[in-house]
Amino acid sequence: MLIDPYGRKIRSLRASITKRCNLNCIYCHMDGQLAGGEELSLDEIKRICNIFPRLGVKKIRISGGEPLVRKDCVDIIAGLKNFDEISMTTNGVFLADKAEDLKQAGLKRVNISIDSLKDDLYSRITGGDRKTLLYVKDSLEKAVEIGLTPVKINMVVLDINQEEIHDFIDYILKKGLQKEVILQLIELIDIRKKYPDQADWKKIEAFLNNNGILIGVRKTHNRKKYLYRGVEVELVRPIDAKFCMGCSRLRLTADGFLKPCLLRNDNIVDLKGCSSEEEIERLVKVAVARREPYYKGVVKKHFSINDL
Ligand code: 5AD
Ligand code: SF4
Repeated sequence: MLIDPYGRKIRSLRASITKRCNLNCIYCHMDGQLAGGEELSLDEIKRICNIFPRLGVKKIRISGGEPLVRKDCVDIIAGLKNFDEISMTTNGVFLADKAEDLKQAGLKRVNISIDSLKDDLYSRITGGDRKTLLYVKDSLEKAVEIGLTPVKINMVVLDINQEEIHDFIDYILKKGLQKEVILQLIELIDIRKKYPDQADWKKIEAFLNNNGILIGVRKTHNRKKYLYRGVEVELVRPIDAKFCMGCSRLRLTADGFLKPCLLRNDNIVDLKGCSSEEEIERLVKVAVARREPYYKGVVKKHFSINDL
């Protein structure tokens, strides 16, 4: 079991397999990775990731950039061994085509990024066009159909799409997907200090508090979960001391650095060129030892759905 100096257990690995992406979202933080660097090979990814289950980290999420732009994405999933759960975060554009192969290779579930269901707004946010959005909607249905569930829709809530939360709920209900799909509302992390207006989160939370039912708080990042009109809605916000104390993930960048925190790059650990498992394991422990909550402050013990 890996435990950091702040008592936080490492429960999952978030591995980026590429920094490339076929979209160009206005808010994209590239999972906090620095630009450049050479992508790890299939063998390197397998060698590094497969160390984790024996250190007690049984969950892995594959991310990007867009993971499905890698030609060997199915082989990467198939090469992951001894994990209890393999999931992926994707923008969904190429998912419908690959979903069955991915599932067969061992993928359990997916998060699909969809910030708008309207052509013009989707295009403004992601750079994708009408067809792109159609592919993404197809992918959502396909993922549900073949059981890559629960499927989470990742919606980064901005000032320009916040009113669409209701449209997403309507869409999920109209398609009858409420048993398999969770709407995850994500607060923008404005890393590039570029985006002028945040969504009105006070209003969104007040709305859910008044009209939905708070059904729990997840251990991971202390995220609130609501049931609203029969649809599960999860809030990923705000990034503060509570969020950080609930952080249980370590990150691997596409170019082979272990990243103890999304929001920092001054404590990363270089794994490139490491061929022995002992050396990788040692460096994983170095990265865990470097973990520190980005936001500290006074924090009560984190709580979970079981404590309510
Ligand atoms: N703020 C919040 N979430 C972001 N994502 C990407 N950039 C940001 C950001 N600046 C999330 C999106 C996407 C996932 C890959 O990361 O939800 O689904
Ligand atoms: Fe970034 Fe994801 Fe958008 Fe691609 S789809 S630009 S990785 S947020």
